[in-house]
Amino acid sequence: MSSPRPASQAQSPTPTHRHPNLSAPSMLERTLSSRRVSPYAEGDAEAGGGADESKTKKHQHILFRLTTRASNYLARIAGSGSFYLPCIVVSLFLFFSLSFLFTSRGFVCISSSYSPVSRTSFFDFDGLDSDFGALGVPCCRSKHGKTVEWTSKDLLKGLEEFVPVYETRPIKNNMYGMGFDHSFGLWFIAHWLKPDLMIESGAFKGHSTWVLRQAMPDTPIISLSPRHPEKYLKKGPAYVDGNCTYYAGKDFVDFGSVDWPKVMKNHGILDLSRVLIFFDDHQNELKRIEQALKAGFHHLVFEDNYDTGTGDHYSLRQICDQSYIRGGGHSCFEDSDEARIRSKRKKLWEKAVDIEELCGPGEAWWGVRGHMRDNFNHSNKPLSYAQHFQNSRYVESILDVYWELPPVAGPSLTHQTRYDPARAPTPIVEDGRYGLFQRLGLANLDKSVFNGYTQMVYLQISEH
Ligand SMILES: C[S@@+](CC[C@H](N)C(=O)[O-])C[C@H]1O[C@@H](n2cnc3c(N)ncnc32)[C@H](O)[C@@H]1O
Repeated sequence: MSSPRPASQAQSPTPTHRHPNLSAPSMLERTLSSRRVSPYAEGDAEAGGGADESKTKKHQHILFRLTTRASNYLARIAGSGSFYLPCIVVSLFLFFSLSFLFTSRGFVCISSSYSPVSRTSFFDFDGLDSDFGALGVPCCRSKHGKTVEWTSKDLLKGLEEFVPVYETRPIKNNMYGMGFDHSFGLWFIAHWLKPDLMIESGAFKGHSTWVLRQAMPDTPIISLSPRHPEKYLKKGPAYVDGNCTYYAGKDFVDFGSVDWPKVMKNHGILDLSRVLIFFDDHQNELKRIEQALKAGFHHLVFEDNYDTGTGDHYSLRQICDQSYIRGGGHSCFEDSDEARIRSKRKKLWEKAVDIEELCGPGEAWWGVRGHMRDNFNHSNKPLSYAQHFQNSRYVESILDVYWELPPVAGPSLTHQTRYDPARAPTPIVEDGRYGLFQRLGLANLDKSVFNGYTQMVYLQISEH
């Protein structure tokens, strides 16, 4: 076991990790870009542009397989040599059409659209492999189409820096708390934004407080949690931070009841756009957004951004899962392609949801079976489709940026068994890239740390 590195050593900012804009102090400028850049458009740092290249090669390989299958299929049904020429023409047409579809994916959020007929039935994809995004990856629309400035290259550099830091974590077993993917996501976002103050709601044993501290060694933290992390010290490892104001134990106050103007004044914060809020308290995220907006905060991270049909609170992912959004919306028809694919995937991934689980009474698929959950599922209210639709429109009206953290690596590398890749964006280290996975030091981590991915999301919000 490696010994913990001193904070200053572990957390020194890496100049190469900074964007040139960082000379400007605004977190807004650090984060935003009006360019619609695909996070996968950049090259792979480790392999000198290899990520794109390997992705293209992979797609070409898939396309070749698809085209060959199509050709065989057409030849089979034709059953005669005279049909051979039209088969080749049709196959070439398919090759170029699909080629365009694959290569243009990067222009629409970071998701792929759900198109079960074209991607599964005809070409015999039975939905049993990883196939990231095959069941759709809905993503919230922002007001002006802005996205984050960081790229896949920055994420790879971040991983390189974070893995040795993570190995020094004081809480090795953080069951019920964050695993590797979200620890990296939180560290990366805080490290990139460089806020003047970090607020977390939901500390548990203090692992996320520790992650924030690694990202920003000298920045004050405010932590809200019903039970003080020091209580866990009696039973085992926990983390209590020296530069953190705890509203915990008998001093606990819920985020929505804090007198934020007073607290900000006490911390000398004049510009609320320099504050980063991290929510891991399993509360209705719509409620948290309204509270944060009312207090004037702009930068939010939600740890558990549960997919439709799962989780113990209403999440952004659920809110934005709408039929009018690409990759969103569902049908409860039991004999649909979606239903068939989902039931197969359920056998492979623990957290995959089949159509029976997805749909509640009256074919209500939104939220969790037509319900809005809150407070660790202690509250479970019916939600009408009209209200669900309204919630999404509201979120769109105040949203400047929505960015879902991709999984760090594909399941053939991490051996994760829980989340269904068909509902997730393409991972930072794609399946098949074991060399990169190993070089980043990810192969040395216990595989259990990769089992907690739930689409952590970074938001930027402002009044409409
Ligand atoms: C999943 S754990 C947090 C894990 C932690 N962030 C980590 O990385 O290990 C959720 C925490 O939220 C706390 N919690 C429950 N209700 C809360 C509330 N209203 N405000 C803040 N925290 C709350 C729970 O007590 C628990 O410690």
